[in-house]
Amino acid sequence: MQICHTIDEIRVTRRRARRDGKSLGLVPTMGALHEGHLSLVRMAKAQCDLVAASIFVNPLQFGPNEDLAKYPRNFERDRELLEKEGVDLIFVPSVQEMYPAGAVTYVTVEGLGDKLCGRSRPGHFRGVTTLVSKLFNLVEPDRAFFGQKDAAQSTIIRRMVRDLNIPVQIVVCPIVREPDGLAMSSRNAYLDAQQRKSALALYRSLMEVQERFDQGERKVHALIEAGKQSCARVPSLRLDYFEIVDLETLEPVDDFSRGALVAVAAFVGNARLIDNIVLGPA
Ligand code: PAJ
Repeated sequence: MQICHTIDEIRVTRRRARRDGKSLGLVPTMGALHEGHLSLVRMAKAQCDLVAASIFVNPLQFGPNEDLAKYPRNFERDRELLEKEGVDLIFVPSVQEMYPAGAVTYVTVEGLGDKLCGRSRPGHFRGVTTLVSKLFNLVEPDRAFFGQKDAAQSTIIRRMVRDLNIPVQIVVCPIVREPDGLAMSSRNAYLDAQQRKSALALYRSLMEVQERFDQGERKVHALIEAGKQSCARVPSLRLDYFEIVDLETLEPVDDFSRGALVAVAAFVGNARLIDNIVLGPA
C-alpha cells in the first residue's frame, strides 16, 4: 500500500496507474474510520482494479464554532484498517498542500448548498464541494464512493459532477448502522454512555415515520410532526431540523410521487448527528 502526502506524488502515481490501464476508485474520508467508511472501500474494491482512499480533515467545511480542532484523528489506526481492506493507495495531504496561501477559488453548488445541513452550517457544502473537486482533479478516479448517510452531500456532489462535466461516476452506498440502529459516525466517539442512548432517538424518529408511511399516512406535515414529537421525547436531544425533501432538489415536498428523503439532524451534547431514510414513490 502506497501513501502519498503531496500533490506531486499523487499525480505521478495516478499517471502510472493509467499507463497500466487500471480503473481507479476513490473513497474520500476525513479519517477516524469505521465500518461505514470500510463499506465504501469494499464497494470500491468490488468495482475497480485499484482503490485509493483520501484522509483529510478539511478545514474549509467546518464553521468557526465547530469541532475542527477536536475532530478525532488517528492515522496509524486508519492506515492499518485500510491496509487490511486491501486499499492500494492512501492520499493524506497537509492543509498547506491542499490550500496553499492565496487560494481564493471555491466550488459552490447554488441553491442546494444552503439546504438541510447547509442552512445551519453556512459554507459547509462549499467547503465539501471545493475539496472534493480538488480531489477529483488530483486523483482522477473513474468512480468515487460516497455514503447515503450524508444524503445531501451525495446529492450535491452528483449535481456538481453533472454541472461541471467531471468525468467520474458517483456511487452512493447504503447507511451502515450499529446493531441497535444508530448510524455509524466518527462523531459518535464524542458520546458518553447516556448520550449514546439519547442518540438513538434520531433513528427511532425515522422508524416512527417509516411505520406511519407504511400504514398509509401520506400527509407530509403529519409525518414531520410525528418525527419531531418522537425526538421531543428525549429532552437532552436538541433538534436542528426534521425535514422531508425531494431527493434531487432538496426542496420540501408536498407528496411522495417522486419519493422523498426524510432527514434529521440533532445535537446530543456537543455532537451534531444526522440520519435519514428514503420513502419510496407511492
Ligand atoms: P466522512 O464523514 O469521513 O465520511 C466519508 C464518507 O463515508 C462519506 O461519503 C460518508 O457519507 C460515508 N459514511 C460515513 N458514515 C457512514 C455510514 N454510517 N454508512 C455509510 N457511509 C458512511 O463525508 C466526509 O467525510 C467529508 O465531507 C468528505 C466527503 C470526505 C469531504 O471532506
